[in-house]
Amino acid sequence: MKQKIEELRRWLNYHNRKYYIDNAPEVSDYEFDQRMHELQRLEAEHPEYDDPNSPSRRVGSDLTTEFRTVEHRYPMLSLGNTYSIEELHEFFDRVEREVGKVEYVCELKFDGTAISLTYHNGRLTRAVTRGDGRSGDDVTTNVRTIRTIPLELTGENVAPLFEIRGEIFMPYASFDRLNAEREQAGDQLFANPRNAAAGTLKQQNSAVVAHRGLDCTLYQMVGEGVTAHSHWESLEMARAWGFKISREACVCHSAAEVDEFIAYWDEARHKLPFPTDGVVIKVNDYQAQQQLGFTSKVPRWAVAYKFKAEQALTRLESVAFQVGRTGAITPVANLSPVLLAGTTVKRATLHNAEQIAQLDIRLGDMVYVEKGGEIIPKITGIELSERKSDSEPFQYITHCPECGTELTRYEGEAKHYCPNQSHCPPQIVGRIIHFIRRKAMDIDGLGDETVELLYENGLVRDVADLYDLRAPQLAVLPRLGEKSAENIIKSIKRSKSVPFARVLFALGIRFVGETTAKYLAAHFGTLDAIMNATVEQLIEAEEVGDKIARSIAEFFADDANRTIIERLRVAGVQFEAEARELHSDLLAGKNVVISGKFLRHSRDELKELIELHGGKNLAAVSANVDYLVAGENMGPAKLQKATKLGIKMLTEEEFEALIASAPAPAKAEQAAQPTPEPAHTQSAMPIQGELF
Ligand code: IVH
Repeated sequence: MKQKIEELRRWLNYHNRKYYIDNAPEVSDYEFDQRMHELQRLEAEHPEYDDPNSPSRRVGSDLTTEFRTVEHRYPMLSLGNTYSIEELHEFFDRVEREVGKVEYVCELKFDGTAISLTYHNGRLTRAVTRGDGRSGDDVTTNVRTIRTIPLELTGENVAPLFEIRGEIFMPYASFDRLNAEREQAGDQLFANPRNAAAGTLKQQNSAVVAHRGLDCTLYQMVGEGVTAHSHWESLEMARAWGFKISREACVCHSAAEVDEFIAYWDEARHKLPFPTDGVVIKVNDYQAQQQLGFTSKVPRWAVAYKFKAEQALTRLESVAFQVGRTGAITPVANLSPVLLAGTTVKRATLHNAEQIAQLDIRLGDMVYVEKGGEIIPKITGIELSERKSDSEPFQYITHCPECGTELTRYEGEAKHYCPNQSHCPPQIVGRIIHFIRRKAMDIDGLGDETVELLYENGLVRDVADLYDLRAPQLAVLPRLGEKSAENIIKSIKRSKSVPFARVLFALGIRFVGETTAKYLAAHFGTLDAIMNATVEQLIEAEEVGDKIARSIAEFFADDANRTIIERLRVAGVQFEAEARELHSDLLAGKNVVISGKFLRHSRDELKELIELHGGKNLAAVSANVDYLVAGENMGPAKLQKATKLGIKMLTEEEFEALIASAPAPAKAEQAAQPTPEPAHTQSAMPIQGELF
């Protein structure tokens, strides 16, 4: 039993992370909730295996380092939830046993991301995400761009200070438009509107947020400022002050009326222009709410009834295997076409071999397909009663379907990979397609099909070949005339001035995404510095852990990659970050460590300031360090070490004051060329402005 409990905790921890931190869920909410319930049940039955770190004890967290973290004045709790009407009726029974007959307010459960807004004297002053329920990210700047959130309230008797909570969500129309744009740009698509809303809210650039068409509905007032006597009254008040309050909410006087509301919306929700995943039922009267109180995690006066994702039963005809540019193998289920949530479904994702084995999916099985707001449906189960007696367990492929090479698996990775990077056609073509993407080398006029054509005609075998292309070679290809051939060549030439960080991203090193590439470029300054860096030195760059560092080192250890890089260098592609004007040389020759959390600057901003004033930012405290800029929650070990070494410590304000005292630099030093020092000491090299 202990093993079972531990297994469940591991599973839940993993999927909790996928959902809350990575915004890339791999299982349905339903499955997650089922397992959470199972764990809660087992833990209740076996108190001897109690663990304070069990996922059942915690509410998920969406904290990131980029935004200022602030504490909630009142904790942001979640809701108890159920998929069963029977359990819902147990909730009514309990409520009415404790406080007698009451009214309930039924609302739609919006499928977005929770937000808490503070209004001071009628003006929006703060917008904070739920985070871990105690503190969240201050996303006020981004929230201000959402048109349906009032910046100033109107109406009478507006409370001088109060908090109101609700859901920021992305209507389907915005979601479809956003994904269409992303597809055009070659960016990864958002799996569902919830991820798109959460991802958008955490954007660094609020202009991007403004463009994405987020919406917000409010559903709870909190704080002493609330003068209403019931939840319904508070909603009406809020509506009168200018908030967007759902018109679908209503007061129900009995359990039967609640059931009716649920039954209606279980069908009607499919016609709504925004995503919903259930109904929230709240005791209306505030006094009754108060009497019922809270458990440690959820209010006892409210519950969420969640809709089951729509399912269909169909036959698994075959499994196809796609090979991505990194060699990752993705199995895809080919299904007998079936109607599901208004569209015909023919394919479903199967993540990897493990998932197939876990569900014991077999060819010819009747499988349940679910569409929980995701674009591509998933297989969630099998109808065993319909399994043929002669069916056999699914045999996962052992060799690449494209090039026949034996597949491998990397430690900690669920997927199989084809290791034949240099000769496996979809990997080669995939890498070239990645290289020319808008966010990479931005080579116009070359679509996926043209790249395939170039490859098939032997004109391009790797990304360096692009720079040897001549217009007449292209002009003779089908669908390409002289004019477009010339435009492509022009665009290829233009790509030679694409900044280094994007070149690094374009190389397609496994795990090096756009952001990591920016950090690497900023930290090392030149491609040579990165190529010559050891794994330990690579880890010193922000966001680079062991896994990424090893992948980078492997990439550059490969002779074929080195050859391509030398050819790109000859072609004139940017292998160095552009020099940037320094603000002063106040910190020239000084090593600075930043540690802890800061109120007024992000860590990146502080790093940039240090570098703009000629200093070098180091990760660890050592005798070489001149200053330690200390924020909140700095690790005690660091503090102790710094004190022992007598390093000068500065608060955020003191650091600001120091920088403010800087004189302008001497002209000659501004143009200083990077010195050929060992890679890891080059962190203070001029970096391009684009990152910040
Ligand atoms: S009330 C203390 N009402 O669902 C209770 N929540 O599963 C506060 N949600 O964190 C929440 N629609 O993000 C409430 N009409 C609604 C809702 C709603 C969506 C979300 C909210 C909450 C989560 C709980």
